[in-house]
Amino acid sequence: MIRSVFLGSGSALPKRVVPNAELAETVDTTDEWIVERTGIRQRHIAGEGETTSTLASDAALAALADAGIDGASIDLIVLATATPDRTFPASAVRVQRAIGAKGGMAFDLQAVCSGFLYALVTADSMLRAGQAKRALVIGAETFSRILDWEDRGTCVLFGDGAGAIVLEAQDVAEDGPGVLASSLHADGSQEDLLYVDGGPSTTQTVGHLRMKGREVFRHAVVNLSDVLGEVLGLADVAIDDVDWLVPHQANARILDATARKLGLPAERVVVTVDRHANTSAASVPLAFDVARKDGRIGAGDLVMFEAMGGGFTWGASLLRL
Ligand code: UT7
Repeated sequence: MIRSVFLGSGSALPKRVVPNAELAETVDTTDEWIVERTGIRQRHIAGEGETTSTLASDAALAALADAGIDGASIDLIVLATATPDRTFPASAVRVQRAIGAKGGMAFDLQAVCSGFLYALVTADSMLRAGQAKRALVIGAETFSRILDWEDRGTCVLFGDGAGAIVLEAQDVAEDGPGVLASSLHADGSQEDLLYVDGGPSTTQTVGHLRMKGREVFRHAVVNLSDVLGEVLGLADVAIDDVDWLVPHQANARILDATARKLGLPAERVVVTVDRHANTSAASVPLAFDVARKDGRIGAGDLVMFEAMGGGFTWGASLLRL
């Protein structure tokens, strides 16, 4: 059977690290509050010359090096982002140029924090349909540029970064590697709980992120455990067979609650929210790359990805390495 098989991963972070204490100098917050309520200790914030496409390109080049392949062989780039360099063209075409590819497909995809899951499913579907042979699936964001730095309820929660994976269409055995099953959902009736109050077609401004955090939290735990159960069912896999859960890194309490609901021990959950904060579409591939490079996730492992974000949108996917 044709499956999308994982070849390599990479990630990139802005140089500047901002610890909680630095934020407490400008907004009414404390390191204790942020750590206790979210698990976040620091975040990386993009500086001059660092944009979504530069971070995405660095992550993509690292993923290509990890896979040991040439950028020119990539014929599909799906870049999940809610913070593109420009309204158009897609930041994906800048990545295409940076990696030395030409003529294949390159586009951005917008599903906010679930963007990487949406991009993964899109690339997987196109690879299995024979539309492309080798894909780069990227999540990259510079949320620092859409935050209201006077709103303590949101500005302490997010960071910037990028993560990328390379997938290739391969003919494999039923028990072989690849993306095994995925599921995506959206519920547009919840738009006003998490959104940006600007845009080209409404205000002609970029706008700022607005969130009713407590409401989002409540929906996140329910939606995520439901979709994880759904994907396990689709793949006919038991939770005990899953080696690693790589969740969207929004809040350590959401990660704990979701793992508890699934009956997954905390040692099998990858947590990077303490170092990176919430990097939206970048958070899952960034956490995945960290856990691969530090040797936790290895060949043959069964890895579960999940994310939930504005829209609402949410989804999960199961990948055997
Ligand atoms: O990636 C997309 C998905 N996003 C998420 O998953 C985010 C989900 N939500 C959350 O992670 C949490 O709801 C938050 C971290 C955003 C907030 O935690 P919470 O425990 O739900 O706190 P809360 O919003 O109920 O606020 C509790 C108190 C409030 O004060 P009062 O009204 O009780 O006096 C807030 O004003 O904490 C206050 N507060 C803060 N205090 C110090 C809110 N932000 C801060 C802050 N520092 N930064």
